This record gives sequence, structure tokens and C-alpha cells, in this order.
Amino acid sequence: MIVSIHFEDDQKTIKVEANQRLTKICDEHPGFILFGCRNIACGTCLIEVVNGMENLAPVMEEEQILLDFLAPGKPNARLGCQCVVEGDICIKLAN
Ligand code: FES
Repeated sequence: MIVSIHFEDDQKTIKVEANQRLTKICDEHPGFILFGCRNIACGTCLIEVVNGMENLAPVMEEEQILLDFLAPGKPNARLGCQCVVEGDICIKLAN
């Protein structure tokens, strides 16, 4: 299944195969999101999911702990390095 990712900051949309990590997608389409550690440590990949939160694989406990620290009270925040894209999403940088 092909899904679309709209990067609101750049006003660009890319189409990719579903169920891929956002890190892999961004490695193949550089320039949208910076990843520091890729392992829930640095927070450089903090994004806001404008649309399609239900189309990302659920937040796991370790990610939630860092999200609670970096973006308290913001339910649409995710760490880009932990996102698996299952359907259409619209995202923007939160840093
Ligand atoms: S790249 Fe460091 S937390 Fe995502």
C-alpha cells in the first residue's frame, strides 16, 4: 500500500510504501527531519502530527517518557525516530 506524507514546513508531499520507519523514509528523502541519536535520547526529531496520528504505530513507553518531558500536554507530539508510518500523515517540526 502506498501512503502519503505531507511535510507542512516544506509544503511537500511524498508517496512511500506503508509500514516503514520514518527514519528510513527520511534517509531516502533527506532534508525534512534531523535525527540525532535515533534512539529516544536527544529529542532533535520531535514532530507535531497535524493529521493522521492514528496512522502511526502506537507510542511505546520509553518514547512517552521523553515526550512527557519535551512536550508536556501535547498529545500530537511524536519522536520522528520512533514513528512507523501505516497510513497518510501530515507532520511538522516541533523543535
Ligand atoms: S533522534 Fe534522538 S530522540 Fe529521535
